[in-house]
Amino acid sequence: MCGIVGYIGKRNATDILISGLRRLEYRGYDSAGLALLSDDKITLVKQTGKVAALEQRLKESVASDVREHSCIGIAHTRWATHGLPTEANAHPHTADNGDLALVHNGIIENFADLRRQLESHGCIFTSQTDTEALAHLISTFDEGDLLAAVSLALKRVQGTYGIAVISARHPGQIVVARRGSPLVVGIGESETIIASDVSAIVAHTRQVVYLQDGDVALITENGPQVYTLENAAVDRAVSKVEWEVDAAEKGGFAHFMLKEIFEQPAALQNTIRGRLDMALGTAILSGLNLTARELAAIRRLVIVACGTSLHAGMVGKYLFEGLADLPTDPEQAAEFRYCNPILGADDLVVAISQSGETADTLAAVREGMQKGALVAGLCNVVGSTIARETGRGVYLHAGPEIGVASTKAFTAQVTVLLMMALKLGRSRRLSREAGLSLCEEINRIPEMIGRVLEENERIASIAEKYAGCNNAFFIGRGILYPTALEGALKLKEISYIHAEGYQAAELKHGPIALLDKKLPVIALLNDIPGKEKTLGNAQECIARSAPVIGILTEGDHEAEQVSTDVIRLPRTSAYTAPVITAAALQLFAYHVARLRGCEIDQPRNLAKSVTVE
Ligand code: G6P
Repeated sequence: MCGIVGYIGKRNATDILISGLRRLEYRGYDSAGLALLSDDKITLVKQTGKVAALEQRLKESVASDVREHSCIGIAHTRWATHGLPTEANAHPHTADNGDLALVHNGIIENFADLRRQLESHGCIFTSQTDTEALAHLISTFDEGDLLAAVSLALKRVQGTYGIAVISARHPGQIVVARRGSPLVVGIGESETIIASDVSAIVAHTRQVVYLQDGDVALITENGPQVYTLENAAVDRAVSKVEWEVDAAEKGGFAHFMLKEIFEQPAALQNTIRGRLDMALGTAILSGLNLTARELAAIRRLVIVACGTSLHAGMVGKYLFEGLADLPTDPEQAAEFRYCNPILGADDLVVAISQSGETADTLAAVREGMQKGALVAGLCNVVGSTIARETGRGVYLHAGPEIGVASTKAFTAQVTVLLMMALKLGRSRRLSREAGLSLCEEINRIPEMIGRVLEENERIASIAEKYAGCNNAFFIGRGILYPTALEGALKLKEISYIHAEGYQAAELKHGPIALLDKKLPVIALLNDIPGKEKTLGNAQECIARSAPVIGILTEGDHEAEQVSTDVIRLPRTSAYTAPVITAAALQLFAYHVARLRGCEIDQPRNLAKSVTVE
């Protein structure tokens, strides 16, 4: 949520900042801006709309010597919280007559108080944002030491922040700090790049330092010096980013979303690799860091997550209860915190988050830890806050996901949950034979998804038929119900069609009143236990003139007969059905959105990583 990038070194900062913003645009894209520092002067450019508009504005309004010869700068792409997405509210925000510039990700909760105090001391505000108060506050504390001024100001701040500050009075420095919003420092050859995630850094260096909450750092071209707000030096290890720069590029696909859908066979190979024990029929998930005794002592699982990750968690309920006899409660992370969850030492809280930064999920993690439960993180982004704070968990290893609508992360999450359920099941009731057969099925997931992707053209032609509709229902039963929710979420996120997911049986308890020939029902009719009953529900839709798009198992003529249109999937057991079904629904949503001319990778009002509560 909001992207920050900063550069200090010997090269032209403008190009590095703009290309960095492009990579971070998925975090927010309602306005953008940048501040360049050269000849002890700050040049500021801001623009509503996307980074491309900012680039154009730069060319038109900034002299070429400033544009081409500034070696220090900070930049921001915004997802509005306080104040409309106008130019005045775009970052950077300035103070000290334009001599100090600040970019911020997060929310300053006490900004109204701060603003009142600062205005009473003569500060003039030009925006409606919470951020501007922080810029003025830092400026009032600056008595010759920018790092000290930032630390003093941040001690007065309630809320969350990832910030970067430059000042014409302190050339050769960027000061950054974080609490609740990620910041990474990339260490290059006589240059340092800071960003809210590594995707803006990997093109320049793979040596990075992940700042932690409470850190404030002085950044020069020689790297970071990290301190606490109390000015005690802290040591932060340098890590190596394991993925290559082209992993964060489109690689010939029209959209990141399509690339990420097609990446799933390879991504899931990485998720599974080295994690199945084909001798004992179990999974090896050493990052969980649980002894056999601890595993055996677990009595209940609570899964906390938001959005697509929550849908994966809901699939998890069927996996843990079906394979390991473990009661499992998936909870929307924000709600979980406010309902006094009853937790103890024999509960395992599993936090699922692609980004590892979602504020609500992080708060649920802290709640679980504070109440004495075991807490594990299931994240994709290595070194992310949830991964670090839980200290135990399983990485998805699905590679960077850039498209705002989550695709490969969902299938990787369900695959990891399946491996966890296998491991917990083997320590409880699953025989070695049953474990081995599940291992074999998990190993086949990448190939089965590949077969679904071969249906791309067929799915595109079905999408053509329904791209003009205004509403759509997705129905599924049992383990496929969360997949119906996920299919509906994908469609509404990127095509703006009103779409709802229902338990197949629930349809007749109200929603059926809406059915007519203009409302397609996407029915998950996979040939797994419960199919017969869902077929009955699909018949009820046909009887009300609603077209049924049957997602079904190849060769299942019975299911074909009740379907107006058909998407065929390979035969699987119930446990892997959600993964391959999701891939088909992702393609359906993608093509509908494409045909409607929607901005697929950057849907309106959404952001990929939601770091505010
Ligand atoms: C946002 C995104 C969703 C995502 C959710 C949870 O709402 O738009 O695609 O599923 O956050 O994100 P996480 O990173 O925690 O999985």
